[in-house]
Amino acid sequence: MPLHPTRVRLASAALLTVAGLVAAGTASAAPAPVAPAPVAAAAAPDIPVANVTAHLAQFQSIATANGGNRAHGRPGYKASLDYVKAKLDAAGFTTSVRQFTSGGRTGYNLIADWPGGDENQVVMAGAHLDSVTAGPGINDNGSGSAAILENALAVSRAQLKPAKHLRFAWWGAEELGMVGSRNYVNSLATGDRSKIDAYLNFDMIGSPNPGYFVYDDDPALEKIFQEYYTGLGIPTEIETEGDGRSDHAPFKSAGIPVGGLFSGADYTKTAAQAQKWGGTAGKRFDPCYHSSCDTTSNVNPTALDRNADAIAYALWGLAAQ
Ligand code: TRP
Ligand code: CA
Ligand code: ZN
Repeated sequence: MPLHPTRVRLASAALLTVAGLVAAGTASAAPAPVAPAPVAAAAAPDIPVANVTAHLAQFQSIATANGGNRAHGRPGYKASLDYVKAKLDAAGFTTSVRQFTSGGRTGYNLIADWPGGDENQVVMAGAHLDSVTAGPGINDNGSGSAAILENALAVSRAQLKPAKHLRFAWWGAEELGMVGSRNYVNSLATGDRSKIDAYLNFDMIGSPNPGYFVYDDDPALEKIFQEYYTGLGIPTEIETEGDGRSDHAPFKSAGIPVGGLFSGADYTKTAAQAQKWGGTAGKRFDPCYHSSCDTTSNVNPTALDRNADAIAYALWGLAAQ
């Protein structure tokens, strides 16, 4: 007896759904789709944390060779920018360096566009690349800078063909009051602001006594990161340590949806937080915050790895639809 046509259609639809899930990395084995499937979203890659820590070692060397910091207006900042830019150029990004002046010194933002995708729907990830003058700024914010760099390089390795346009940014002079990111947002025409679907910010994501904080500014973006951490079985908390104290603030003020991750700075880990995340209660998330000891020893590689992978999960998911 021939199959009922409705049942055939249902069966095909189910197979297509399964194929979609496989592509999203949530199932391990399934039959091939019986009909040409719509182009399925590629699964987000596992970002190799060794590559991220290799970038951090480079930032450390740059600071050491330049008076111990990578601060705005100092040679260590420009050297950091040159390092990141060279990697992106070699990987096929379209990069641009945007100059501004702050405190009588020249500052620079680095913008890197991945060719392709709908430029009316831009998904952006950013991190500040400057340190304070007191130290090399490896957790604050080599961590975010290195993680988005490695994510950009992963986009290139995958030769990703996202539906939306992907843009990465490394900001100058965040430590002077989000000067670079504000300059960038102010430079956008009103029409260009509305083309940015999402801005994701990563400022301190490898704290040595880490917490797992998610920005709650936009519910949809918050949900993506929560989903990722739920998948790892790790509870998150809402980021509250100085809301608006990083480069997402100018974007949010301009009406752009923002999200991000944070592993903690000056605040002290509570007993309840140590219970769920490990680490040391009664100790700051980052005891070397804004200090000379914010070196490569001041990073928790597990937190850095999880956050780098969470960024990939968010970017691949957001850019695909
Ligand atoms: N670079 C930020 C600063 O110096 C670090 C920071 C503190 C932060 N609190 C934050 C980053 C909350 C994101 C969210 O202020
Ligand atoms: Ca990883
Ligand atoms: Zn800082």
